[in-house]
Amino acid sequence: MKITALDSSKALTSTPLLAICAAKGESPVLPKGVKVSASAEKDFKGSARKDRLTDATGGAAERVLFLGLGENPGAEELRQAAARAVKAAKAQGLGAVRIQLSSTSAEAWGGAAACGVALAEGAVMGAYIYTGGKSKPAVSKLTRCVIAGPGAKFRAGVREGVSLGEANLYARDLQNFAGNQLTPRALAASAKKLATRSAQITCRVHDEAAMKKMGMGLLLGVSRGSIEPARLIHLVYKPRKKAKKRIALVGKGLTFDAGGISLKPSGKMDEMRYDMSGSAAVLGVFHALASMDVPVEVHGVVPSSENLADGMATKPGDIHTAMDGTTVEILNTDAEGRLILGDALCYVRKRIKPDTAIDLATLTGSVVVGLGHEISGMYTTTDELRDRLSAAGEATGEAVWPLPLLDGHMKNLRGGPADLRNINQPNIGGGSIAGAQFLRHFIGDEIEWSHLDIAGTAWGSVARDYVGGRGGTGVGTRLLMEYLGALK
Ligand code: BES
Ligand code: ZN
Ligand code: ZN
Repeated sequence: MKITALDSSKALTSTPLLAICAAKGESPVLPKGVKVSASAEKDFKGSARKDRLTDATGGAAERVLFLGLGENPGAEELRQAAARAVKAAKAQGLGAVRIQLSSTSAEAWGGAAACGVALAEGAVMGAYIYTGGKSKPAVSKLTRCVIAGPGAKFRAGVREGVSLGEANLYARDLQNFAGNQLTPRALAASAKKLATRSAQITCRVHDEAAMKKMGMGLLLGVSRGSIEPARLIHLVYKPRKKAKKRIALVGKGLTFDAGGISLKPSGKMDEMRYDMSGSAAVLGVFHALASMDVPVEVHGVVPSSENLADGMATKPGDIHTAMDGTTVEILNTDAEGRLILGDALCYVRKRIKPDTAIDLATLTGSVVVGLGHEISGMYTTTDELRDRLSAAGEATGEAVWPLPLLDGHMKNLRGGPADLRNINQPNIGGGSIAGAQFLRHFIGDEIEWSHLDIAGTAWGSVARDYVGGRGGTGVGTRLLMEYLGALK
């Protein structure tokens, strides 16, 4: 579907469907000449999600869809409404849709630029269907979407929203691929391809021989049980102007997590294809960076492996050595995300030396118990980073919630036969905190750092028109782009 940004002050050209938003208690502003029946206008009250589709009785539109935004709408309501408009056009088998916003509405609902971004994101993301597993994917008739609103800022916002929406779909596709379709090598090939989209992006992929040289015994220890070789992906984005900061984004790229010798139960095990969602978020950022500028240098680091069980696999009790020399007793081979990330964080600390590092990982089942599917768990070493990520979460609808880095959980990792255990002793609980503290050991104290546990939000969240329901959500990409864009 091609999206075109237009100025709403231009006369309306013919469209099979015109979508107009209104807040609760407001009457929708119809463009000049467009008429609908009195009852359609009377029945529609702008209440949240109480939309009304009706035939037009005059003017350049064949049908009109009134979209109810409810009280005090903002970006989230606009994203959802745009997605409903696109879905309604699809359901009617139409070839085009036009979503129109008046200047008064834009001003009241967050400003022209933000409204443009939100409508475009909603339209792009709402039209998504995953077809990567079909031999003959169904082709949608809906090929054109016009988004009309006030002024140049609105149109620039729409273009930005398209880039962000498409980056989200790219991340979602990566997530949704089956484990045998998206292996560590396939993920690395995708990353390499991203680098061909922009002269500002480069990509280097380290193979197992290189990992061995660097001493990445934790990453290699996870990969041992699989025939598929592991990869360490390193993407770099350089801004046009001199960068004031260097940021490293690290994503867990477990393309399938069977648990290893500590094998997972078989129910829903297929969902462990999504255990690379952190890496999807990071690659998604680079997809967006190919068409959008941010003022900082961005590094994307993805350790990628499978976690399977064969005769070579790491056994509970085995000890492996990390890139920084730390020895780790692997008490549970299913706590593998922290192992591959441990080496990746050593690599970030030694080779990249960023101002800030943020990792994203489907790390623990325990964060799903604690926070559910709508909010990601967030650990930060500074309040500033916590506030920046919280603000980005609110702006993008990818909410994050602060959790504590408790000293007790760090202490509890020590005391075994190795320097660290990969899991806490059973009676302490707080599994997500233990995972975060394990990671913290490897990034060290000098680099500002955040860990986002996205195990609950990466797939299967509540449907919100443009995202959620079955399959991957692409969570993290828009959140991080918002964070990066706001840095000075
Ligand atoms: N990938 C899983 C975490 C996970 C579980 C994500 C369910 C989403 C849904 C991770 O590798 C894992 O298995 N973690 C274990 C850690 C435990 C052994 C300390 C977990 O959370 O059960
Ligand atoms: Zn696991
Ligand atoms: Zn895992």
